[in-house]
Amino acid sequence: MSDEINYGPATIKDLDKLVALQEKLARAHEDIDKFYSLQANFQKQVKTFFTEQLASKNSMFYLAQSGGKIVGYIFCMYKEWIPIFKYRKHATILDIYVEPDYRRRGVAKRLFVESKRFAKRISADFLVLDVDVSNTAAINLYTKNGLKPLMTKMIMRVE
Ligand SMILES: CC(C)(COP(=O)(O)OP(=O)(O)OC[C@H]1O[C@@H](n2cnc3c(N)ncnc32)[C@H](O)[C@@H]1OP(=O)(O)O)[C@@H](O)C(=O)NCCC(=O)NCCS
Repeated sequence: MSDEINYGPATIKDLDKLVALQEKLARAHEDIDKFYSLQANFQKQVKTFFTEQLASKNSMFYLAQSGGKIVGYIFCMYKEWIPIFKYRKHATILDIYVEPDYRRRGVAKRLFVESKRFAKRISADFLVLDVDVSNTAAINLYTKNGLKPLMTKMIMRVE
């Protein structure tokens, strides 16, 4: 494991590696609850979606790299909330992931800084995200960096 970690924006050349890391993040959630179950053609869907988002000014992908390998990334995008609310412009963190060997070294904290920069750049009113209630590592990361819990998502399986 190399010690030096470099940070920078992703490009379309990083697409396949980003899709592979996104799969690790998504598979970990599949183990938590059926709600997060993935479709059979999941990789194809992510590839199409990421290709569009990598080209969009309303999205931001930022990488942590070590020894030429991507060891973490963050993906944020602009989302507009429903029109009844005054503050509708949201910067949303969709993904943040760090490879297990590189965790607890401040990589996510550094990537998170970029989400705040992105939020300012797009003049968002709020920075928002969803996190599973059992994900203590992520919840700690977010609360330590200025976010607070606001809503609870309630779900039930319809049978
Ligand atoms: C959550 C995750 C991104 C954190 O990455 P990381 O690079 O290890 O985080 P950092 O080293 O920047 O840690 C920042 C803070 O997060 C919290 N944190 C990180 N890992 C933690 C853990 N295992 N347990 C408790 N708190 C943790 C701590 O408060 C930490 O600050 P500290 O080290 O000063 O105590 C990483 O564990 C991960 O990729 N998890 C799987 C993917 C995931 O769940 N993503 C979030 C989806 S919402």
